[in-house]
Amino acid sequence: MSSTRSIARRVLRSSTLAALTAPHGVDRYLELVNPMWAAREVRARVVSIERETDTANPVATLTLQPTSTWEGHVAGQHVQVGLELPGARRLTRVFSISSAASAPGEEFTLTIRSNDGGTVSSYLVEQARPGQVLHLSQALGEFVLPDPLPDRLVFLSGGSGITPVMAMTRTLLRDGYDGRITFLHYAQTPAHQIYADELAALAAADNGVDVHLVHPDAGGDLFTTEALATLAPDYRDVDAWACGPAGLVALVEDAYAGTERLRVEYFKTPTVATGDAEGSVAFTRSGEQAANSGATLLEQAEALGLTPEYGCRMGICFSCTSRKTEGTVRNVLTGEESALPDEDIRVCVSAPVGDCSVEL
Ligand code: FES
Repeated sequence: MSSTRSIARRVLRSSTLAALTAPHGVDRYLELVNPMWAAREVRARVVSIERETDTANPVATLTLQPTSTWEGHVAGQHVQVGLELPGARRLTRVFSISSAASAPGEEFTLTIRSNDGGTVSSYLVEQARPGQVLHLSQALGEFVLPDPLPDRLVFLSGGSGITPVMAMTRTLLRDGYDGRITFLHYAQTPAHQIYADELAALAAADNGVDVHLVHPDAGGDLFTTEALATLAPDYRDVDAWACGPAGLVALVEDAYAGTERLRVEYFKTPTVATGDAEGSVAFTRSGEQAANSGATLLEQAEALGLTPEYGCRMGICFSCTSRKTEGTVRNVLTGEESALPDEDIRVCVSAPVGDCSVEL
């Protein structure tokens, strides 16, 4: 049976069939017959939607059954979700996978916060229904655990940034990890706490995971290096993963300054300090030009009424890649500057330093 399936898959992926079904490709025809049939593309049916929080920006976990083309994921990775909303072109956004590592074709979950103005996230949390089919990428990203695993780990997260470290924790526990994990998470209040019941059960169990939940708006302290040192005195010598809002990640980076132990993933790009920006920005394809505000090129293009392609707005999906023909840009995540001419840059995380021209 599985060899019949693999022969069928080989035929469906063959260049002969691709030529016969051009220009739409075999997947367009398969999708018409059954949206869960695919030769190359990945789609997923929404199996269930469960509310995690009922706060002003509610959070929900979507369980997805992918097509057989899904190659599985490693804990910590994310996926691009494409959605066709009535009257809009297909919108693509990136979400971290929250379930333990999956094998090819296996179900997995996304935990999503409905953001103000986040058309896709709001739709998925508040209006999507079981049975609906979403377009997906394969799993992406390098924010993952090493192989072999160290015997001590520190996970630090804030808000929805808990999803990739939760995927790692679930994977480690499922696979019998016998090391020790310090799990430190910040949520505004107990009502904003995602996975509250599961984390309470984790904290109560004898499983090597030390769970510390902090709720600053309910009297908990904000992150400090001293607090981390109290919970994990050896933290500077331990591999650590941090994911959350830029402010929290910056504080964690300060705590780890000078070590190579920390991996970070932003859940929102840092707000760029504007005000002392110089020069002007030219968007050559549209002929628009304006004084450089210091914001990212994506934000500056949008401020001029342009609508460049984008997905994550966090520098991870490459959907916004555009050609910079002149000038210097600074990566707002890393602070690195690049002055190369004719360079492909991600405009969502690139801010111009002086005059700059981009093909948009
Ligand atoms: S929108 Fe994803 S990298 Fe820019």
